[in-house]
Amino acid sequence: MSGSILITGASQVVTLRGGPRRGNSLSKIGLVLDVGGRVVLPGFVDSHTHLIHAASRAEEYELKIQGASYEEIARKGGGILNSVKKLRAATDEALKRRAIAALEEFAAYGTTTVEAKSGYGLDVASELKILRLHRELNDEQPLEIVSTFLGAHVVPLEFRATKDGAEQYLALLMEKLLPEVVVGDLAEDCDVFCDRGAFTAGQSRKLLTKAKEHGLRPRLHAEQLSRSGATQLAVELEAASCDHLEQVNEADIRALGKSETVATLLPGCDFHLGLKQYAPARKLIEAGAIVGLATDYNPGTSPTVSMPMILSLACSQLRMTPAEAIAAATINGAYALGREKTIGSLEERKEADLAVCEVEDYREIPYYFGMNTCWMTMKRGEIVWMKD
Ligand code: NIG
Ligand code: FE
Repeated sequence: MSGSILITGASQVVTLRGGPRRGNSLSKIGLVLDVGGRVVLPGFVDSHTHLIHAASRAEEYELKIQGASYEEIARKGGGILNSVKKLRAATDEALKRRAIAALEEFAAYGTTTVEAKSGYGLDVASELKILRLHRELNDEQPLEIVSTFLGAHVVPLEFRATKDGAEQYLALLMEKLLPEVVVGDLAEDCDVFCDRGAFTAGQSRKLLTKAKEHGLRPRLHAEQLSRSGATQLAVELEAASCDHLEQVNEADIRALGKSETVATLLPGCDFHLGLKQYAPARKLIEAGAIVGLATDYNPGTSPTVSMPMILSLACSQLRMTPAEAIAAATINGAYALGREKTIGSLEERKEADLAVCEVEDYREIPYYFGMNTCWMTMKRGEIVWMKD
């Protein structure tokens, strides 16, 4: 006989988890709430966000609607450099306030873990400021923050005057910034935006190889605007994830299918930018890739904290089933962050990170698009958000 038994339909569960009790704790019986016929699932693990930024880029949104492309706006000094200018001018307090407000919203939509990338600082002091804020936020509010160093987001303006500016900036990242990140234990992962207008596969290889030697897991922004070879590089470097993937080819799909690198899809970007070419999710799933889903919360391409909205897009645009989308947004996101043993599923010995949705059937979570069906969010067994 198997050693485990599943009891369903209970209105209250008294767990007594946590070992022997004395004094006050004797009366703490570990009561699990009556969730009244709602659907309980693991808290969403949002494995790709640009959490810290100073402001929206609503002014560019209008230009995009009028037909300007993301890259045209970037070439005119908008885009990522626009956010860099705003971040450098912002105080720590203002950045933190904005991030905390966003994290409260993440929790309201059922997210319990948030990966956060630097990348709007692009100088030593500003990048370190962002990474230190990740740590403060992790310590001071309930959601878990997983910090990623994205110094190689784009080449900053002050390095663009000369032909070898990109190489000089890379040298600064590798020789000055990366060692500081490592000594300060300020990031677990190192990411590169490997694309047209950002960094080449060759430059990305140099930085990520160095980062890996320092013990940081590589990740890549791959094949978003053009096919750069970033996916093959991600597989070669055994990256934790490679993300976006709108422009992958058949060889890339096969390579991901045979790898342990998570193929993280970010359909919020295509939706927000009005692009028609979503990542080939079905082909990736058929090839056996570990497909993940994340918001890519950022002011330029995906201003949303809503994993349920991402699930809706995954279903309607990527043709993933609701079950596939939920798995991609929970356990596969946890795997992308190296946390599959502690979060991402509801199992014994895992942290009690969960979302309770006001629906009768899990399929209704993506079905109600642009709506928030989340009723309660719990992080490590504590309620961190509840409706009304
Ligand atoms: O993941 N592609 C690069 N980075 C972000 C966009 C950043 C921005 O536009 O501010 C992304 O889409
Ligand atoms: Fe991103």
